[in-house]
Amino acid sequence: MARNRFNSGTTPEEELPKTKITKESLKQAEGLLSYVKPYRGKFLLGLFFLLISSFTGLAIPALLGAMFDAAQGKYKFDFISPSINALGATAFVVLFIQSFVSFFRIKLFVEVAEKTIADLRRETYFKLITLPMDFFNNRRVGELNSRLTADLSQIQDTLTTTLAEMVRQAIFFIGSIIILLFVSQRLTLFNVAILPLLVVSAVFFGKLIRKISRQAQDKLAESNIVVHETLLGIANVKAFTNESYEVNRYNRSLQEVVTIALRGATLRGAFASFIVFCLFGAIVGVIWYGSTLVQQDILSVGQLSTYILYSMFVGAAMGTFPDLLANVQKALGATERIVEILEETNEPISISVEDNATKRVLEGNLKFEDVWFAYPSRKEVQILKGLSFEAKAGEKVAIVGPSGAGKSTIASLILRFYEPDAGQLLFDNLPSQSFPLTDIRNQVAIVPQDVLLFGGTIRENIAYGKLGASESEIIAAAEKANAHSFIKNLPEGYDTLVGERGIKLSGGQRQRIAIARALLKDPAILILDEATSSLDSESERLVQEALEVLMKDRTSIIIAHRLSTIREADKIVVLEKGQVLESGTHDELIQNEEGLYRYLSQLQFEA
Ligand SMILES: Nc1ncnc2c1ncn2[C@@H]1O[C@H](COP(=O)(O)OP(=O)(O)OP(=O)(O)O)[C@@H](O)[C@H]1O
Ligand SMILES: [Mg+2]
Repeated sequence: MARNRFNSGTTPEEELPKTKITKESLKQAEGLLSYVKPYRGKFLLGLFFLLISSFTGLAIPALLGAMFDAAQGKYKFDFISPSINALGATAFVVLFIQSFVSFFRIKLFVEVAEKTIADLRRETYFKLITLPMDFFNNRRVGELNSRLTADLSQIQDTLTTTLAEMVRQAIFFIGSIIILLFVSQRLTLFNVAILPLLVVSAVFFGKLIRKISRQAQDKLAESNIVVHETLLGIANVKAFTNESYEVNRYNRSLQEVVTIALRGATLRGAFASFIVFCLFGAIVGVIWYGSTLVQQDILSVGQLSTYILYSMFVGAAMGTFPDLLANVQKALGATERIVEILEETNEPISISVEDNATKRVLEGNLKFEDVWFAYPSRKEVQILKGLSFEAKAGEKVAIVGPSGAGKSTIASLILRFYEPDAGQLLFDNLPSQSFPLTDIRNQVAIVPQDVLLFGGTIRENIAYGKLGASESEIIAAAEKANAHSFIKNLPEGYDTLVGERGIKLSGGQRQRIAIARALLKDPAILILDEATSSLDSESERLVQEALEVLMKDRTSIIIAHRLSTIREADKIVVLEKGQVLESGTHDELIQNEEGLYRYLSQLQFEA
């Protein structure tokens, strides 16, 4: 009875942590309930149907008992003596009403829950993707993902079934107890006497069993980590011929799972037989004692059967309450995590496309003025320390420097993923804050080193740079990016699926798609973050050509390790530990015998 249909045991919700039911958690839940508001009419109607179906359900055992009595010509009340047929017909009518309203109740509740959760999902997702970068630094993607899936499903489950079931079981429980007392106080007292023993032992055993099954689950999760790791690093496992080592590791882990599970099995078995004994013992006891009452003519057969049916209702309600409660607790935990996201402050980006349209066109002048910056998640490490440099509209400015100097950080600041702690960024000689965030991001494009393509066609991936771009625009961009010829040769051309489920493109091919994307966007400022570092000479030539086209007539910030690619830059800024060490053209910098640039380019030339 403890495992019921609301908790099938394998759903992902099962693993969601529970939360104590406190004033605060209830308040948060109340906040989320505001999402039900638009559908409150249907919700209340469903609730009304639920009440009807619960009360009609409660009436059935009484009718059945009355039928038994009518068969023997015994009636509880002298003034009313319905025939068996009248009682049977009434029972059918009641049953029919119950099924009829149940149908609508379920339909209404599911509809309300589906719509509410869809609204909530949309809202949470929008909130999530408009949160500042820093939010994502401290969280894993899988965890955020599970908020949208597992957490919201738990809340949905609670809305559709748990709440309704709680109401119904509460009505059954209270109603049945009242009727039991009404039918026979002696039997009720007899029952109440053995109840505490059952409840206490169930609670005790239940806790113990849950603890052990949690341990078993944890161990199983541990062993799954072994599988996950080895599959991810399968090339390493094979290269080191460590298959047998991994098998042993997995086997050890599995062995522990079995040991713990077996310990649980003893307990489970003992508990199950104990409960079965008590449960049937109670039934046997009631019938035994009840029969003597019937014999003494204190109770009729009909009343005894009515009694037994209602005590089953009470037992069932008691059996489901713990699970229902656990579900509510899990839903409250889920609510907490959803509210946490909903209450974060997001970036000023609107859900409507018009609001996000560019309002002020940038010429492309960019200036860093004494910028100090540390990542919000690691405030103690200064990344940029009084950084200043300038890129005039249309200039190519290269940023070079050792790994960790802060080059990619500069790119993030230009895109305004973060704000400087001191100093400022100027766009066209105006402080960056004086522009709407979307104006900056609409007019800055970045070609990163490792291009991520979205699941979808190549066409869609290129069009990501300018939603609603025409076919000819897309092809023109691909041609300029040196990507058209390889796309044409793919089996399905521009309709080829890429991303996780599509075909795998090489690094250079993906980069050329990213360049086409950037070309479509036609930005005032372009950032290339080591765009050619992972390519062979032939792809590098193709990408380099594409980049030359892309950089034409716009401000370009080129972050590069390979100095040969930036000889032509209008200015080279040499960065070390978040400060500008030297800057100038290639020819100027190479003159400086002590300079880092000269040293680095000599190293690369020799290599
Ligand atoms: N999101 C982040 N949170 C905290 N610290 C970060 C974050 N991103 C980068 N850092 C730190 O900031 C410093 C500069 O990183 P950055 O990525 O700007 O270096 P880089 O010059 O681009 O190096 P590379 O040439 O290796 O790409 C590093 O010490 C890095 O550990
Ligand atoms: Mg970098």
